[in-house]
Amino acid sequence: MARFDVRPMTLADIPAVMAVEAESFPLPWPERAYRYELSDNPNAYCVVAEAEGGAIAGYAVMWMMADEAHVGTIASAPIWRRQGVGERLMIELMREAARREVIFITLEVRVGNIAAQRLYLKYGFVEVGRRKRYYPNNREDALLMTVEDFRDPACAARVDALDA
Ligand SMILES: CC(C)(COP(=O)(O)OP(=O)(O)OC[C@H]1O[C@@H](n2cnc3c(N)ncnc32)[C@H](O)[C@@H]1OP(=O)(O)O)[C@@H](O)C(=O)NCCC(=O)NCCS
Repeated sequence: MARFDVRPMTLADIPAVMAVEAESFPLPWPERAYRYELSDNPNAYCVVAEAEGGAIAGYAVMWMMADEAHVGTIASAPIWRRQGVGERLMIELMREAARREVIFITLEVRVGNIAAQRLYLKYGFVEVGRRKRYYPNNREDALLMTVEDFRDPACAARVDALDA
């Protein structure tokens, strides 16, 4: 199993993040979006998974909005997939949500993105709704997924168990 550290994203990470972004999404965020999140959005929590040797194996952005945290994006580089990067990123997002005492964690995911949905189900997200034709490139629906009542000790226990 490969080893990673999850740490805050910095401006210097953006070129490597953009390379993974291009390989991971049909509608990649532009570079300026990451610059904005890092420099001008105090409500953004941006992390990277750095592999031994310094490669950026993945990253995630979460927005903190009062008692809600919203996962804006999460990705791992294709060559690093299925090695626990997505989970390490999700665990760190959930730890931060717990530190901020949020009540809900929400996200949207393409209906066809089974890999991501499996990750979210594993971490306690449940489907709560659907946004019709949400993604403009192919008019694919988005599922809304939520961890509700995140302050329930059972949520922390689940993350602890998966972390172990
Ligand atoms: C979704 C994504 C972040 C998962 O990252 P990853 O590093 O491969 O995930 P992990 O190795 O930590 O896997 C964690 C869990 O995710 C699920 N999962 C990941 N890839 C999967 C796949 N190809 N098929 C089914 N389940 C999968 C499984 O539940 C897995 O747990 P398991 O190993 O116990 O089965 C990655 O596939 C990705 O970057 N995809 C492109 C970008 C994207 O779609 N992001 C999400 C936008 S909503």
